[in-house]
Amino acid sequence: MMRVLFFLLLPVLLLSRLAGSSPPPDPVSCARGTSDCTVTSTYGSFPDRTICRAANATFPRTEQELVAAVAAAAAAKRKVKVATSHSHSFPKLACPGGRDGTIISTERLNRTVSVDKARRLLTVESGMLLRDLIKVAAGAGLALPHSPYWYGLTVGGMLATGAHGSSLWGKGSAVHEYVVGLRIVTPAPASQGFAVVRELAAGDPDLDAAKVSLGVLGVISQVTLELQPQFKRSVTFVTRDDKDMAAKLAAWGGLHEFGDVSWLPRQGKAIYREDNRVDVSTPGNGLNNYIGFRAQPTLGLLTARAAEERLEENGTDIARCLAARLPAATFELQAYGFTNDGVFFTGYPVVGFQHRIQASGTCIDGRDDALLSACTWDSRIRGPFFYQSGFSVAVSKVPAFVADVQRLRDLNPRAFCGMDAKMGVLMRYVKASSAYLGKAEDSLDFDVTYYRSYAEGAPRAHADVYDELEQMALRKYGAMPHWGKNRNFAFDGAIAKYPKAAEFIKVKDRYDPDGIFSSEWSDQVLGINGSPNVVGARCAIEGLCVCSDDSHCAPEQGYFCRPGKVYTEARVCRFERTRLVDEL
Ligand SMILES: Cc1cc2nc3c(=O)[nH]c(=O)nc-3n(C[C@H](O)[C@H](O)[C@H](O)COP(=O)(O)OP(=O)(O)OC[C@H]3O[C@@H](n4cnc5c(N)ncnc54)[C@H](O)[C@@H]3O)c2cc1C
Ligand SMILES: *[C@@H]1O[C@H](CO)[C@@H](O)[C@H](O)[C@H]1NC(C)=O
Ligand SMILES: *[C@@H]1O[C@H](CO)[C@@H](O)[C@H](O)[C@H]1NC(C)=O
Ligand SMILES: *[C@@H]1O[C@H](CO)[C@@H](O)[C@H](O)[C@H]1NC(C)=O
Repeated sequence: MMRVLFFLLLPVLLLSRLAGSSPPPDPVSCARGTSDCTVTSTYGSFPDRTICRAANATFPRTEQELVAAVAAAAAAKRKVKVATSHSHSFPKLACPGGRDGTIISTERLNRTVSVDKARRLLTVESGMLLRDLIKVAAGAGLALPHSPYWYGLTVGGMLATGAHGSSLWGKGSAVHEYVVGLRIVTPAPASQGFAVVRELAAGDPDLDAAKVSLGVLGVISQVTLELQPQFKRSVTFVTRDDKDMAAKLAAWGGLHEFGDVSWLPRQGKAIYREDNRVDVSTPGNGLNNYIGFRAQPTLGLLTARAAEERLEENGTDIARCLAARLPAATFELQAYGFTNDGVFFTGYPVVGFQHRIQASGTCIDGRDDALLSACTWDSRIRGPFFYQSGFSVAVSKVPAFVADVQRLRDLNPRAFCGMDAKMGVLMRYVKASSAYLGKAEDSLDFDVTYYRSYAEGAPRAHADVYDELEQMALRKYGAMPHWGKNRNFAFDGAIAKYPKAAEFIKVKDRYDPDGIFSSEWSDQVLGINGSPNVVGARCAIEGLCVCSDDSHCAPEQGYFCRPGKVYTEARVCRFERTRLVDEL
């Protein structure tokens, strides 16, 4: 046992202050110059375990080059899609349609266009990383008030997927709420040279389509964000039991501007983040360098994964649950990577400037060290491999949903250890949006991260609990899946949850009538053509379908398609030893 514990802890023990870190690989790779290309995500594998092909790729450096690239594709009616410097979305968003499309990468479109300090407006090119945007804003004494917690994302990618932090205050936590203008390159008739730049200013109704677009309207070239004067935040994490969590969650978003909650279901604990804006004169130079986003030594990643696989395949619930206590305990001890001065943690609250607190991601910052260390999920290393499901439940329905999940947990708490092992379920607030593909109501977003096997169709321990939880959220409580996360089945019927989807499609038909920016995947999730489900043997094990037949699970290994235990309309792959023994 100690061996297993040691290996799981190893990366955490060794993580402190490595000089280097190999930056993530480019998701676009071409066999010959800029032709014969593949595109994948930062994880190296989409939910259906494929990567995508494209005939060629372009890397425009200017808006003119971008217009030329779109015009060339439009003239030839070739499929085209934007890829970014790291492509962090789990679903197949970055794939051009077919196999002979064109990839337009925004990795070289990462400059600041203008800063207007007086009006607090910042205009940047769409390939700029959140990290760089935060830096540029701070340099001008300004702050983007809300953002995702990981700064390796691009402006274009965050908008396309509706990425967010946590807040119900002001305009809320989604980056697209701060967009007051953008320039988007769309196909056009031959008379206009096959491509045009459309400039959308504040108040333009098309902005509600372009702000969250899944990349199907064209290529966003530049984005103007309305920022705020630099401010400071005060952060305290408080761990409590989860008995009153269902009710508390309904109120927490109103109490703290940046509040969130992490739930460790097996341990019955909730980690409440009390996080509020404070005056800039408040002392403190705190820094958020989240442990999970730091570079990890490759050796540690390999051994941690090997230990995790042994536990998953051959471990007992007791062993898995024992191991699952370590990450949360270690992170708590190290204050999740927060320090009061950039070096030492001396106690809560941690007070610091917004740009040092709002996001982190030092694993993309280091000098290349030839893969001695990397981000935890680097696809070149056979390290941790995981799914991430993200879905938003309307705040009004949260208490009932959470109470249901707690009932499911109480039936067999040990089945939830896998969630504890991944730092629990992260819950963040997102405000209702005017964006057609944004949230329809004030919501709480649930992020659930869990083990993924490298072997296709290999069942996971207690997969039924994850399946039931997700189906309950999506079907019983009408949750909206995060466009940039989740397994395929979560998107089945998703578009029907967006009251303004038809408005979005109208804009898409106007901007890109031939659908060159649309792909099989975008047509499936937008309800235009086909289904995101891929039905076949073991599809429910892979999250490609909801099972309706035992063959969609792994009957040979004792996993059968069964109703949920709390949400009985769910259909989940459940391990039933007795049945297996009977049949053998
Ligand atoms: C470690 C990690 C942490 C994360 N944390 C958060 C979080 O805190 N909150 C959150 O909401 N999400 C989070 N995510 C998910 C993330 O928000 C989305 O997957 C995401 O926004 C992807 O950004 P990207 O720049 O990698 O874009 P990609 O995944 O490369 O692209 C996403 C889509 O946008 C399109 N696109 C990109 N740029 C343009 C453009 N200029 N014009 C038109 N279309 C474009 C692409 O074609 C694609 O369809 C996280 C992901 C990871 C890996
Ligand atoms: C991509 O390939 C197609 C066909 O092979 C060609 O017509 C087009 O010009 C190429 N585009 C670029 C930018 O190389
Ligand atoms: C743009 O990207 C390049 C290459 O990754 C990088 O060297 C440069 O610092 C970035 N520029 C800005 C303004 O962030
Ligand atoms: C699990 O046990 C089997 C049988 O002993 C073995 O073949 C397999 O390699 C083990 N799996 C792991 C990941 O250790």
